[in-house]
Amino acid sequence: MEIVKVDSYEEVSQKAAESVAGLLHRKQDAVIGLATGSTPEGMYARLVRMYRENEIDFSSVSTFNLDEYLGLSRDHPQSYHTYMHRHFFDHVNVDPERINIPRCGDEPPELVCRDYEKKLKDAGGLDLQILGIGTNGHVGFNEPAAYLYTDTHVVDLAEETIEANSRFFKSREEVPGKAVTMGVGSIMGAARIVLLASGRSKAKAIRDMCSGKITTFVPASLLQLHKDVTIIADREAARLLP
Ligand code: PGA
Repeated sequence: MEIVKVDSYEEVSQKAAESVAGLLHRKQDAVIGLATGSTPEGMYARLVRMYRENEIDFSSVSTFNLDEYLGLSRDHPQSYHTYMHRHFFDHVNVDPERINIPRCGDEPPELVCRDYEKKLKDAGGLDLQILGIGTNGHVGFNEPAAYLYTDTHVVDLAEETIEANSRFFKSREEVPGKAVTMGVGSIMGAARIVLLASGRSKAKAIRDMCSGKITTFVPASLLQLHKDVTIIADREAARLLP
């Protein structure tokens, strides 16, 4: 694993945007796995700016989002569908036909998961997966547990995740308890993984994921088995690293 320590959140965002732009310069029809949450917001803002300045073109790109809440309508203000359009898709030229976010409407979730995994495979797998990390070491919504799923699946969100994400909702009770998430196998299948971390609250998770030990109770620690992972962490997130 390569660890890139930078001074600030702005630098995390800039380096992350550069890794996406670099891929697009090499491969116009790249397949990119995307993340939501506070951390990648700065990266999306920079990618939008690069697009407006004609530095990058998304017209042939396909995207797959990591996860989506179950039980929120697509157009709920806190759905990841809404997030992605607000921060990114509404401002760039990704072909709407090539945008993939798990559908969490009325369809049976098992069907949604199977279909999502098939689409991912049919697209030839991910060239790049952008990840954040939970304070509990989750990636996507793969929460710490005795066992983890390889493929896209339905998950019960951990109390810690519900607590952390309640800042986006009016109350804790409004945070959905379930989500659909790509599995660790779907994520590990990406040719390259770039994980972003910013702030003190992520320091323990970053230390544990880089510890040289692997445990399903720190799902991100499995990434140590991947051959091309870059962690971009600011000073606060990297502060417990040797
Ligand atoms: P955050 O979430 O970027 O909002 O901190 C990251 C995550 O939970 O994976």
